[in-house]
Amino acid sequence: MPCTVIIGAFWGDEGKGKIISYLALKDKIDVCVRTGSVNAAHTVWFEGKRYALHMVPAAFVYEKCRLLIGAGVNVHVAKFFEEVKATKVENRIGVDFQASIIEEKHSAQDKTSSHLKGIGTTGWGVGPAIEERVRRTAILAKDIPELRPYLTDVATETNIAIDAGKKVLLEGTQGYMLSLFYGTYPYVTGRDTSASAVCSEAGVGPTKVDEVLLVFKTFMTRVGAGPLPGEITEEEAVKRGWFEVAAGTGRKRRSAPFSFEIAKKAVMINGATQAALTKLDAVYPKCKGARTYDALSLEAKEFIKEVEVQTGIPVVLVGTGPDALDIIDRRC
Ligand code: IMP
Ligand code: MG
Repeated sequence: MPCTVIIGAFWGDEGKGKIISYLALKDKIDVCVRTGSVNAAHTVWFEGKRYALHMVPAAFVYEKCRLLIGAGVNVHVAKFFEEVKATKVENRIGVDFQASIIEEKHSAQDKTSSHLKGIGTTGWGVGPAIEERVRRTAILAKDIPELRPYLTDVATETNIAIDAGKKVLLEGTQGYMLSLFYGTYPYVTGRDTSASAVCSEAGVGPTKVDEVLLVFKTFMTRVGAGPLPGEITEEEAVKRGWFEVAAGTGRKRRSAPFSFEIAKKAVMINGATQAALTKLDAVYPKCKGARTYDALSLEAKEFIKEVEVQTGIPVVLVGTGPDALDIIDRRC
């Protein structure tokens, strides 16, 4: 597993935060590079506390992990400092000098621009910040005096770590179906969210990647507008125990049953080699808290098998509850 890219298979909120934090502790990850921007919240439970991380990589839970924010990221400076303080990682976090800055005005533009009305953006201003960067008028991390102590060349650091055989995670954000190129355009985010784009944002070439771990939730959810195949009503979602509220924005999530069609396409576009399946217990309540494959119900085992047969990749991690250790690790 020297270099692994972690990607969401649906519309974000698949549980990447939990998977990354588990891997960080279990595999003793040396370097974790976050990509994307502040619109994505990765939820991590650690030492009885819940963190919804918008900037700090989710691998912070392993105290020896070097945490990096790639050149492709739009950095929200206030959020960065707030989270660095809350997670106490000031001595081991670095920001690429060429990452760009998301400013207050971008958030205002996100909320008032007529062309974004109806998309249901998160309101953080990520789309407008990307527009600014494309216009070649963005402020970069190296222009912000408070960021100076954290500046580094993330691509060089990461490639040196990979070449030295260290364990590196590239932390994808959001999900494949929110991709600017492959998602449900125009109901998408402002960037490509695929594994290739995550590599690009971190500064790692495709030949350096060993595994692409695609994270599926056992059912699908979506916040904001746009198509959701097989969508069920909120009432039905509550009845089934699938109803969720977004970690970042507090918005209600819409839900639908797992789509094998989307799953297969996500595997193809991301070149996925492994899958993680989260929240198995929400669909198969008897599996709650199971820590071994044998403890799963027959139905749940059949579902996992079906995912493997249809996607052609192994389901190596299975989430069965909110605790970081409520996980079945089939790699061992
Ligand atoms: P934006 O990324 O804020 O421009 O929002 C565009 C669309 O992507 C909206 O439907 C958002 O709800 C959705 N979105 C953006 N980031 C995330 C995320 O991290 N999880 C889930 N949905 C997201
Ligand atoms: Mg999220």
